[in-house]
Amino acid sequence: MLKTIRVKLNTSSNRSYSIIIGRGILGAAGKALKKLGVGKDLFLITDSNVNRLYGRAVLSSFKRAGFKGTGKSVIKAGEPSKSLASFAKIQNALYGFDRSGDRQITIATLGGGVPGDLGGFVAGTYKRGVSFIQIPTTLLGFVDCGLGGKTAVNFREAKNSIGIFWQPKMVYMDLEALKTLPLRELKSGLAETLKYGVISDPRLFDYLEFNSDRLLALDMAVYEKIIPACVKIKADVTSADERDEKDIRIMLNFGHTAGHAIEAATNYKKYTHGEAIALGMLIAGQIAKELGLFKEADLFRLENLTENLGLPVKLSGCKVSSVLNAMKHDKKFKSGVNRFILPVKIGSCKVVNNIPEKVIAKAIKSRMA
Ligand SMILES: NC(=O)c1ccc[n+]([C@@H]2O[C@H](COP(=O)([O-])OP(=O)(O)OC[C@H]3O[C@@H](n4cnc5c(N)ncnc54)[C@H](O)[C@@H]3O)[C@@H](O)[C@H]2O)c1
Repeated sequence: MLKTIRVKLNTSSNRSYSIIIGRGILGAAGKALKKLGVGKDLFLITDSNVNRLYGRAVLSSFKRAGFKGTGKSVIKAGEPSKSLASFAKIQNALYGFDRSGDRQITIATLGGGVPGDLGGFVAGTYKRGVSFIQIPTTLLGFVDCGLGGKTAVNFREAKNSIGIFWQPKMVYMDLEALKTLPLRELKSGLAETLKYGVISDPRLFDYLEFNSDRLLALDMAVYEKIIPACVKIKADVTSADERDEKDIRIMLNFGHTAGHAIEAATNYKKYTHGEAIALGMLIAGQIAKELGLFKEADLFRLENLTENLGLPVKLSGCKVSSVLNAMKHDKKFKSGVNRFILPVKIGSCKVVNNIPEKVIAKAIKSRMA
């Protein structure tokens, strides 16, 4: 075991949970879950790729640990599955699994942010909420979506627009899963690690700059350092502002306002989530520079590192106007007033409201290929 990081939730201590980080620990997931004293009937939610790679190992680990009924729902891999249609399909499978109505269901989500967000939403709504654990298998899942209790599905062009906060009982990460992750997905996750560097950890940013080659070569020693560092930041932020109410957690949205809009404007097809966030961070950096908040030299470092991590720095496949329109659905915007997280230096960001549309448009335009 590499590390256990605790997420302390203030309102009620029994909702606090541990994030367990290790290598080669997948087969012990059942044993770790058993210690929590959750319901004895385990229902696994995963996607088609991850099921093929890890589904059997995880389910047999639950069986070995004494979980009785073990059901499973497998969604098609990919963002389009984060939908109300998949939600209904899984609820239906759960209903079948729990036909007698007396099962003590615990849900485990296995995979990246798609099965994680969707499965968490199912867990939080089935019979008004059952226990769940997250077993992320993507870098993005390790450092971001597997943590923090935000669950959701997408609706029409609006990302994550239907969902709830529902905290897991445990997050269980086996870093070995990175070894089967496609390189493009690995780079996508690196975008979020870069985000943590910009919003709160200049030393992490330096470390990423210094080790970009090793990161792309999947040097596990480097991942053993950066993943716990990112998890700790997210755990601390979530502990301090569980439900995004105090302008603390909102910092995690750096790059996401333009990033989500880019995903929507390109129909969730051209860019992965991390690639869109990488472009979104550059747009936010550009806006901050225009407003005199962020030095040109820092923007240059951000752009350089983005490029060195193999992420896109130029936007194509959509118009400036479609990105601007998609942005209007951002959950942070209130009564037509926009709200951005902008960097002020490497390691610090702030919330800025009501930025003139022409400044935003200019920043998007500056990124067009
Ligand atoms: N809840 C949150 O706080 C939060 C935060 C950030 C992002 N998200 C959401 O997460 C989603 C993106 O997450 P993602 O990038 O993990 O997407 P994903 O779940 O679609 O996974 C990406 C791809 O990698 C494959 N995969 C996963 N693990 C693998 C492994 N170990 N080996 C081989 N292939 C593997 C999947 O099958 C899929 O094809 C988005 O929907 C985003 O909105 C949520």
